[in-house]
Amino acid sequence: KIIILDFGSQTTQLIGRRVRELNMYCEIVPYNKFPFGDPSVIGVILSGSPFSVYDEKAFKIDLSNIRGKYPVLGICYGAQFMAYTNGGKVEPANTREYGRAHLAKFDHDNPLLKDVRENSQVWMSHGDTITSLPENFKIIASTDKVAVAAYQAEGEKLWGVQFHPEVYHTEDGTQILKNFVVDICGGKQDWSAASFIETTVAQLKEQLGDDKVVLGLSGGVDSSVAAVLLNKAIGKNLTCIFVDHGMLRKNEFRNVLHDYECLGLNVIGVDASEKFFTELAGVTEPERKRKIIGKGFIDVFDEEAHKIHDVKWLAQGTIYPDCIESLSITGTVIKSHHNVGGLPEKMNLKLCEPLRLLFKDEVRRVGRELGMPEHLITRHPFPGPGLAVRILGDITREKVRILQDADDIFIQGLRDWKTKNTEGKETALYDQVWQAGVILLPVQSVGVMGDERTYERAVALRAVTSTDAMTADWAHLPYEFMAKVSNDIINKVKGVNRVCYDISSKPPATIEWE
Ligand code: XMP
Repeated sequence: KIIILDFGSQTTQLIGRRVRELNMYCEIVPYNKFPFGDPSVIGVILSGSPFSVYDEKAFKIDLSNIRGKYPVLGICYGAQFMAYTNGGKVEPANTREYGRAHLAKFDHDNPLLKDVRENSQVWMSHGDTITSLPENFKIIASTDKVAVAAYQAEGEKLWGVQFHPEVYHTEDGTQILKNFVVDICGGKQDWSAASFIETTVAQLKEQLGDDKVVLGLSGGVDSSVAAVLLNKAIGKNLTCIFVDHGMLRKNEFRNVLHDYECLGLNVIGVDASEKFFTELAGVTEPERKRKIIGKGFIDVFDEEAHKIHDVKWLAQGTIYPDCIESLSITGTVIKSHHNVGGLPEKMNLKLCEPLRLLFKDEVRRVGRELGMPEHLITRHPFPGPGLAVRILGDITREKVRILQDADDIFIQGLRDWKTKNTEGKETALYDQVWQAGVILLPVQSVGVMGDERTYERAVALRAVTSTDAMTADWAHLPYEFMAKVSNDIINKVKGVNRVCYDISSKPPATIEWE
């Protein structure tokens, strides 16, 4: 495997994804947690960082136990750090360089740059620049602005690049990472969904033996794939619990339960909506809503799980981005997302997380390989507290009904409306956006229907494009589509007379309104 040492860059996860896209297994670890002694490590990548090498707080490591033992590639800060600590010079650049640049001069014969095209575009994002290299380091690429765009330590398997090969805008970035991972480190590229399933099923059989396992299904991709994988490994010893807190999409509980049954899962559906509506009555503060739902979920789940005799394990669909120990620089909590936190301790169960090393796209590949239906696999993310955080203000059954109806028209509309993508292939708008939904606003406004004055609610439509929900842009949906959806909602959903579209990006807004 390849180890990616994380120095806190925003793009560290992307490095991991790019390497995995090469079907090469890798792990991201904090910069100071290198797995010394792990015989499967074949190469090391040092990430970028928000710090400068000369910042007092900068993350620093002793490379002497890594250098010479494994091939090393430093990216941005990683490259500066290696140059600086070996006697090179790193200085603040005259202007922060951010954006596109082109490899003006480079050494075509260097193994890191094999098959990189002439004048290839690279993506720069740095405030510092390497102004002189240590003695035995040589420049292998420059751009018109940056002399040291890439270097190698002579006679050693140690490289540094100032640009970011992991971002999409670096045209030959994948080629460069492939050169490093495959040619230089000797990576086998043998990761595939089928091989993952085979080894994971064998491991789960071994780990769980004849033990009973309980798993909470949410309808989302991750928990569903985890369930199908476990079902393949241990069959009837797996019990799944799907709790309806009353804040799901229209007919979702029924439909998803049906999907699960068709997949052969042993699933218990619990309609606990009454409990949640009672506890949420009059509550308006977003974090309080989350806490009530999180706690209520644990209570219901706990009660159901106790009905299963002798259960030993709690399985969860945790995926890799949830597990990477993040180097939080600011430490501020914007929203508390982890709804099931605290469950294993409370229930005194051991934790089983079969997807904990996968990225989302890999989870989807595994799901397809397991033969799961496409609509379960391509589902949009949906927040744990569901529509509760899309009803601004207090929650009632009537408001949920209004929101479900409006949301259903919007989502169904997105599924039905197809446009040609850049390759000329017809795809539904639903598959072109990261997630979408409707928000019920605590606002009433005047309208006119027939000869009647109306004084009813406004809803906001939200659809965003994103790759990881960390940042998002509002989706540029066709006007004709929006006209149709707006018309349908106002005509069909009793209680709504106005539809708006949210055109805020994240940051500075967030995807959900609460
Ligand atoms: P924000 O609103 O923070 O959302 O931009 C980022 C992603 O997280 C989802 N989200 C949640 N998921 N529990 C969840 O399980 C929550 O409380 C929660 N709040 C937001 C949101 O839908 C988006 O995909």
